[in-house]
Amino acid sequence: MQFDPNTLDEARVHHLMADSIVPRPIAWVTTRNEDGSTNLAPFSFFMGICPDPPLCAIAVSQRERGDVLEVKDTRRNIERTGELVIHTVPAAQLELMNQSSADHAYGVDELELVGLTALPCEQVDVARIAEAPIAMECRAGRTLELGDSATALIVCRIVLWHVADAIVSAGRIDFDKLDAVGRIGTTGYSYTRKRIKLARPRL
Ligand SMILES: Cc1cc2nc3c(=O)[nH]c(=O)nc-3n(C[C@H](O)[C@H](O)[C@H](O)COP(=O)(O)O)c2cc1C
Repeated sequence: MQFDPNTLDEARVHHLMADSIVPRPIAWVTTRNEDGSTNLAPFSFFMGICPDPPLCAIAVSQRERGDVLEVKDTRRNIERTGELVIHTVPAAQLELMNQSSADHAYGVDELELVGLTALPCEQVDVARIAEAPIAMECRAGRTLELGDSATALIVCRIVLWHVADAIVSAGRIDFDKLDAVGRIGTTGYSYTRKRIKLARPRL
């Protein structure tokens, strides 16, 4: 069968995207609210771009409040400060990650609310999650406003990695110890526990 996005409503197209682009990495993002508290939210429309300089991007849609579209707190903070921290989500923190996606009022310290510990960063004025084994301090670059619903594709430059000693083996991240999760569809998640190694063909 075929699905023509021109004949479907936005929710249906969103489902097709969420079900076809799988599994997705999850950027678990902290930003600084105006009062200094920490905003925390996950974003799975998230991709790496290139290593030199290290760039990645998150796509932040607008929130529907009745008939009104509203800018999400993460984007609001990034536009004001130009800074964010992206954390990788391990299976042990899946439930907390999900809790942090709740639509709390602006200014609520979501890091504290879900019971996580804040640590200061070195190059950005944003708290990072002490319990997260990988935290990437980032500066926001260009934002592209795309699509009818004014989704913001925010390009981020990673300026410093914090990686827990316990998950590093021979200078590389040990995936067994990291135990990251991915997102499948809208409410599904996948583990990275079953993996295979495959070298690329060389001619
Ligand atoms: C696993 C997961 C991934 C999500 N990915 C996105 C995403 O890529 N883009 C987006 O706009 N919202 C995404 N959301 C919804 C946001 O996390 C949610 O709207 C959140 O309340 C935004 O918080 P903020 O207003 O504090 O920025 C996702 C939610 C979950 C649970």
